[in-house]
Amino acid sequence: MAILDILHYPDPRLRIKAQPVPAVDDGVRRLVSDLFETMYAAPGIGLAATQVNVHRRVIVADVSERHDQPWCFINPRVTGTEGREQTEEGCLSVPGVFETVERAERIQVQALNAQGEMVNLVADGLLAVCIQHEIDHLEGKLFVDYLSILKRNRLRKKLAKAQRLAL
Ligand code: NI
Repeated sequence: MAILDILHYPDPRLRIKAQPVPAVDDGVRRLVSDLFETMYAAPGIGLAATQVNVHRRVIVADVSERHDQPWCFINPRVTGTEGREQTEEGCLSVPGVFETVERAERIQVQALNAQGEMVNLVADGLLAVCIQHEIDHLEGKLFVDYLSILKRNRLRKKLAKAQRLAL
């Protein structure tokens, strides 16, 4: 296992659309292990392969307090949604920024697990938010894209200033 480097906004590689995993083999399982290790070390509750510059459709999540409910989704697809909910989100690729985003409250997801088996899951609460946020990463989309232009400009200025001050 290895802790991988996480790309930071506005790195253009975060905009690359991830490709489907053709077969769940040992290489994919190694990637899943590395994603979990990187996510727990950060620490974070979700991570997409895109964020470590691997452009394959693989995400991991664990929203439990004890870090004992790991979920991995390979080639995930949202097959149903219900309701809308606003949640304050952050992202390991946009450190220090937390903003309210509206998403589906409840989702149905279909994906392969690390054994290559098709899994169907109904998720709500934080796990539903997390899965939608991570699937966005696979599409090259970031949570800050949901903000108003005004808020995004303010954010860009703040990040530029932080970069200037980082010696
Ligand atoms: Ni993120």
